Amino acid sequence: MILYNEATRVFHLQSHDTSYAVKITNQGHVAHLYWGRKVSGEYLDGLYQINIRPSFTPSTDLEQLEYSLDTLQQELPAYGDSDFRTPAYQFQLPNGSTVTDFRYESHEIINGKPKLDGLPSVYAEADDEAQTLLITLRDQLTNAVIVLSYTAFRDFSAITRSVQYRNEGTDVLNLNRALSMNIDMPGYNYEMLQLSGTWVRERYIHRRKLEPGMQSIESRRGSSSHVQNPFIALVSEGATEQHGDVYGVNFVYSGNFIAGVEVDPYLHSRLFMGINPFDFNWKLEAGETFQAPEVVLVHSHEGIGGMSRRFHDLYRSRLTRGEFRDKVRPILVNNWEATYFDFNEEKIEAIAQAGQELGIELFVLDDGWFGKRDNDTTSLGDWFVDRKKLPNGLESIVKKVRDLGLEFGLWFEPEMISPESELYRNHPDWCLHVDGRRRTEARNQLVLDLSREDVQNYIVETVSDVLSSAPITYVKWDMNRNMTEIGSALLPADRQRETAHRYMLGLYNVMERITTAFPHILFESCSGGGGRFDAGMLYYMPQTWTSDNSDAISRLKIQYGTSIVYPVSSMGAHVSAVPNHQVNRMTSLETRGNVALSGNFGYELDLSKFSDEEKELVKEQIELCKDIRPIVSFGDFYRLLSPFEGNETSWMFVSKDKTEAFVVFVKVLQEPNGAIGRFRLQGLDPNKSYRLEGQNGGVFAGDQLMYAGHPVPQFYGDFQSCVYRLTAI
Ligand code: DGJ
Repeated sequence: MILYNEATRVFHLQSHDTSYAVKITNQGHVAHLYWGRKVSGEYLDGLYQINIRPSFTPSTDLEQLEYSLDTLQQELPAYGDSDFRTPAYQFQLPNGSTVTDFRYESHEIINGKPKLDGLPSVYAEADDEAQTLLITLRDQLTNAVIVLSYTAFRDFSAITRSVQYRNEGTDVLNLNRALSMNIDMPGYNYEMLQLSGTWVRERYIHRRKLEPGMQSIESRRGSSSHVQNPFIALVSEGATEQHGDVYGVNFVYSGNFIAGVEVDPYLHSRLFMGINPFDFNWKLEAGETFQAPEVVLVHSHEGIGGMSRRFHDLYRSRLTRGEFRDKVRPILVNNWEATYFDFNEEKIEAIAQAGQELGIELFVLDDGWFGKRDNDTTSLGDWFVDRKKLPNGLESIVKKVRDLGLEFGLWFEPEMISPESELYRNHPDWCLHVDGRRRTEARNQLVLDLSREDVQNYIVETVSDVLSSAPITYVKWDMNRNMTEIGSALLPADRQRETAHRYMLGLYNVMERITTAFPHILFESCSGGGGRFDAGMLYYMPQTWTSDNSDAISRLKIQYGTSIVYPVSSMGAHVSAVPNHQVNRMTSLETRGNVALSGNFGYELDLSKFSDEEKELVKEQIELCKDIRPIVSFGDFYRLLSPFEGNETSWMFVSKDKTEAFVVFVKVLQEPNGAIGRFRLQGLDPNKSYRLEGQNGGVFAGDQLMYAGHPVPQFYGDFQSCVYRLTAI
């Protein structure tokens, strides 16, 4: 899977249908040769180009004047010794200089994929599934070392990359910048696709044509954020869901990041990703190593849809872990939008009872069960049950719900502290803060300083105590604000700018310990919905609450955008009450169900208030969900019509053996006497015939459904939808 040509010093990584090639130049730099559709690889060295650029392009090698780092396509560039483009890293030396000169020292190809210390990463289950290339570079003057790491997979079309920055010298060094990845792609005829938004409007698709200069996205919020997802793709001009070259890069990290493209004067596109260097510094004492997080690279020659399915396959089976990885997820009812903070045992029982009658499998008790939390002004950090609301304790309510035949799930927000709490009274220095400065509150809360070991231990102990106190089988792990005054009481002045990353390492440590100690609990992460929907979190918790916006029409864009990278099995999707609490929209129960069925399905309303007719429909939705969730969770996902481009949205799921499919179609606004047309399905077996249940049902050939299409469904009214089921005959 990783081939090395000693004569040309070219490494060729082959991952399923992808090739990636780099070369060690005569001068000892790592040049980028190729990333794209799989090639045989014999003549890859022919892609290596050095061009004479006399004026204003420095010569890096006096023996070969045309060799310039400023024009070389590189894998991990520096600034200061002749490349004027944006660098991937910067070491600051004791003399204040940031000039370094790293050259090739050695390389190693190993079977399998080593874990990244303390960080989430894609994994290989067996050593013959993957090979890893480690290229070591050294700066002679400082004895600093950089190890570039690349993994190629046998069964997945992905390459993973990460970097270790080591200080093997005797002086203290400072890492001002430590990105995880750089690729200098040839040409700039691409569009940059990104997933941007804000709270209740996460991961909308945006595409822009590359222009010379810098285009980038970043987070400075202390989390990956609602605003920019740590993902970008370069999309060949005109690429569609089904056609064109697409290069996607996704960060396996949940904190501040930067990702972007600099189009240089010679029209290469420098694609880069890593921890945001803004407000970052890492002091590297002699002998210390800094491990930069992982980036996953996915190329597709089958359009954006092809890229998404490659990410989905990899993430479903080699990023998420634990016993729920390969299991369909329970259908749940969550009390948040039903009761908010105002509940007691009776109300909970009533919702759970109604759920049990309708076929629900899990009841989730959301915010408000602990401390004195009657609203959002108090008690975060005080993880002991509120006896006013639950006089018989957690154990009793868990038992009652379980006696009804439902599993029990519980909400936590472990990373936070309310200034109005026991915890804050006892430990006012446990939050992120800067001495003498205001402690800015958001939602009346402060952020615990997870860079501290005592805080990490407190969270592990208190959450574990609650989870051990009753048979709880699901946890919703929330996080409801961004970080301000990012400083730690325990770190010295010259390490304060490490706090944000140390927080993430602390969080990963806490999540690793808790999820390993409770392997039978299904963990769902959440950050005001999708404020931390990233591959880092999915390593610890296999699903995420996609958005606090549960309106079915808003969810079309949110779920469609999220699916660009993340598998549908990682998205929570619930039917909630109308008028919708976030956007005040009225939609039918049918449409709310049809949209939520494309995710980990559930309800977030008071089921006990439903009419008999509504209850019948809910029963049907639940039965349908139980039937189709294996293909929704583990099948191939195809986006058919985009909510970003028109009034109609459609997507479908196809089982891996192509014998079953499930299609969702939603029309946002009714058009008077509107167009009549067809829409085309995807992913079916062209040689099979399918029985199609739904509007204009019947038996049809797979090739006909894909190449000729099926009549667009007819509706009466706004926000209408329907579903189709297909079975091969
Ligand atoms: C934000 C979450 O996204 C909601 O679903 C809910 O759990 C609230 N927090 C509770 O405070």
